[in-house]
Amino acid sequence: MNLPSLPTRRLLLRPFTAADAPTVQVLASAPEIAATTATIPHPYPDGAAALWIEGHAAAHASGNAAIFAITTPADGVVGAIELRIAPAMLHAELGYWIGVPHWGRGYATEAAHAVVDHAFGALALKRVFAHHMSSNPASGAVLKKVGMKWEGRLRAHLHRARQFHDVELWGLVDDEHEQRQRVRAAATAIDHCTPVLPCADLAAALDHYEQRLGWRRVFHFPERGYAGVARAGATLHLMRHDGPGRPQGASCRFRVRGVDALYAEYQAAGVVDPKGPLESKPWGLREFVALDRDGNALHFGEETRG
Ligand SMILES: CC(C)(COP(=O)(O)OP(=O)(O)OC[C@H]1O[C@@H](n2cnc3c(N)ncnc32)[C@H](O)[C@@H]1OP(=O)(O)O)[C@@H](O)C(=O)NCCC(=O)NCCS
Repeated sequence: MNLPSLPTRRLLLRPFTAADAPTVQVLASAPEIAATTATIPHPYPDGAAALWIEGHAAAHASGNAAIFAITTPADGVVGAIELRIAPAMLHAELGYWIGVPHWGRGYATEAAHAVVDHAFGALALKRVFAHHMSSNPASGAVLKKVGMKWEGRLRAHLHRARQFHDVELWGLVDDEHEQRQRVRAAATAIDHCTPVLPCADLAAALDHYEQRLGWRRVFHFPERGYAGVARAGATLHLMRHDGPGRPQGASCRFRVRGVDALYAEYQAAGVVDPKGPLESKPWGLREFVALDRDGNALHFGEETRG
């Protein structure tokens, strides 16, 4: 398996490299890390980080693990997160640690979100689960925030530092994750979108929109080379772009009612693109293309299906 890099809002999750070993050696040596993980030894032996990183290539090649360095632009490696995968079961166990100086900034939660998305997305797993010691509620908080459900307590499940520890079991299955993603997507519905189109001469472009295309000037900042026009609930921004690399072929699409009347108006104004007459398209729209003064294409379409 080729491990991808996963960017998040503040982090980049990427494969570890040999150059990360000194940082991992320092961070993983903290007693706080060993205290709540099942396998990280304390004291952490010299060279253990380098050996651990050396093993990743084989683990990834076998498909049994996906191990990511959690990195920030300012601090480099701040922790690690991994999926221990059972390919035949289509499930994986999630595990992670964050270096003590970086605790409490939401890094574990942000990284876990990305890795859980990866597990159900690219890896198409059925289930992701995780354990944490009952004495480690911070880890439980992370798992809850990525949508896992508490599945029970395994009493005296872990023998560590001459003590038996109760362990909490959490899990998430693909359907639940998909449902959460739908809710997340609905919560971030896009209400409005304003295309910004390039133009060589802003004043001339504005005149064209007002006089030929029937749009209304909403604002105009000549010194900044920026203006806005509106028509029937839609807004366009125009930006002066007179450098040698002026973008070509910019366009935007409008869904309208009364496309025939608009077409007649734009034909009379001589702004219809000869290559874009009003036509019924296979995608269920009656559509035509108008051109602004700079050759930006304005597609206007009306739904024809019931
Ligand atoms: C557990 C660990 C990964 C959390 O990392 P982190 O980046 O600090 O976690 P986050 O900031 O994303 O979130 C921690 C959450 O736990 C909460 N939390 C912290 N201490 C808590 C406590 N004692 N009780 C309840 N919740 C607690 C925080 O408030 C936060 O939730 P919030 O954002 O809703 O306020 C980190 O402490 C760690 O690496 N510990 C050692 C290794 C380990 O335990 N790994 C997990 C093994 S299962």
